Amino acid sequence: MKTIQLHDKTFEVYIPETGIAEIVNSVATAINNSGVEKPLFIAVLNGSFLFAADIMRKITIPNAEISFIKLASYQGTESSGIVNELIGLNQDLKGRNIIILEDIIDTGNTLEKIIELFQNKEIASFKTATLLYKPKAYKKEIPIDYIGKSIPNDFVVGYGLDYEEIGRNLPHIYKLKN
Ligand code: IMP
Ligand code: MG
Repeated sequence: MKTIQLHDKTFEVYIPETGIAEIVNSVATAINNSGVEKPLFIAVLNGSFLFAADIMRKITIPNAEISFIKLASYQGTESSGIVNELIGLNQDLKGRNIIILEDIIDTGNTLEKIIELFQNKEIASFKTATLLYKPKAYKKEIPIDYIGKSIPNDFVVGYGLDYEEIGRNLPHIYKLKN
């Protein structure tokens, strides 16, 4: 099996490009068949940029839109601690059917923060789609509507996912070699 080196670690192919395409197709088909109207996809940067690009080309729902956000955390005042903010969300979400696009859901902390920041915006419907999901690591009760593939608690890179910011350009998904 072909391996690659990123920083200090060795990775081996886990989901080849062809397998990723099948997973993306299955998620797109489920969304296309869901009956949702005029969806607004919101991709969470940086990791979801390739997943978002590929899934959008498979969406056949009329008037589908896409926008991109980034979750920024910064240290607030001493009393407030860490403050989370969504960067890039400019449009009015009132009455919209939102579908979040995530590369991977691990503990669910990121998803929970995103959902908090979408509260009180009079959204019509809110769904979450993720390429990869680690059920053994997930600690939240929030349901995930569209899951591409559930994986063990292995660290994965490629197809948008990084190891300390590198590896996002790899066409296959790799996992850490033991
Ligand atoms: P969370 O634990 O669900 O909040 O996941 C937070 C973030 O950790 C994800 O959006 C990814 O950026 C990153 N992450 C989690 N697991 C992996 C992995 O296996 N490879 C690369 N990044 C990961
Ligand atoms: Mg990362």
